[in-house]
Amino acid sequence: MELIIVKNQLEGGKAGLKLLSQAMQNGAKTLGLATGSTPVEFYNQVVNSSLDFSEMTSVNLDEYVGLDGSNEQSYRYFMNKHLFDEKPFKENFLPNGKALDLDAEVKAYDQVIANHPIDWQILGIGQNGHIGFNEPGTKETVTTHVVDLTPSTIKANARFFENEAEVPKQAISMGLATIMKTKEIVLMAYGKEKAQALKGMIEGEVSIDLPASLLKKHPHVTVIADEAAASLL
Ligand code: GLP
Repeated sequence: MELIIVKNQLEGGKAGLKLLSQAMQNGAKTLGLATGSTPVEFYNQVVNSSLDFSEMTSVNLDEYVGLDGSNEQSYRYFMNKHLFDEKPFKENFLPNGKALDLDAEVKAYDQVIANHPIDWQILGIGQNGHIGFNEPGTKETVTTHVVDLTPSTIKANARFFENEAEVPKQAISMGLATIMKTKEIVLMAYGKEKAQALKGMIEGEVSIDLPASLLKKHPHVTVIADEAAASLL
């Protein structure tokens, strides 16, 4: 696991863009993408770059159950706004949060990933160490699945909604097994709220109590952290 410490999110976004450019030069065709406040500056850098995604595929980590792409809080809406509207891809996949049959949707999404193995995966990290929406205690072997969000994640994500009651209680998320199979991972962490989780991930034991710690077993992970997130290391 390589650690790059940067001054702020802007520098982190630039470092992320450099890694993405290298991966694309080396033939990466499918990108695993993430939402949340963490990758926003990275997407901004990507949008302002000369990179061309017209032959690329993207597969997103997760989506809230119950929200469709027209809902401003959905991850589809987020991706359109921050990246896809500006940089068209060949195809963009996200789980369908409005699927009537969630079991079928989960299986279909696993098939999407099987058809498009992920070359380069971007990740944020939750304050409790979750990646995607794989909460503490999630099985390591799990692929795409429906998740009951923990009270701490609902609370942390409430800042994007009118109030906490509006935050969906479930999400569809790629599983830990899916994430571990991606060829290269870049995890970004910014702000002091992430310091404890980052310390646990980098210095603690590999434990499902902190899902991000599993990444220590992955052969190619780069962590980009700002000084505040890295302050406990
Ligand atoms: C959400 C997302 C994760 C994200 C994390 C951190 O729950 N499902 O993919 O990494 O929370 O969010 P933020 O980047 O806003 O801190």
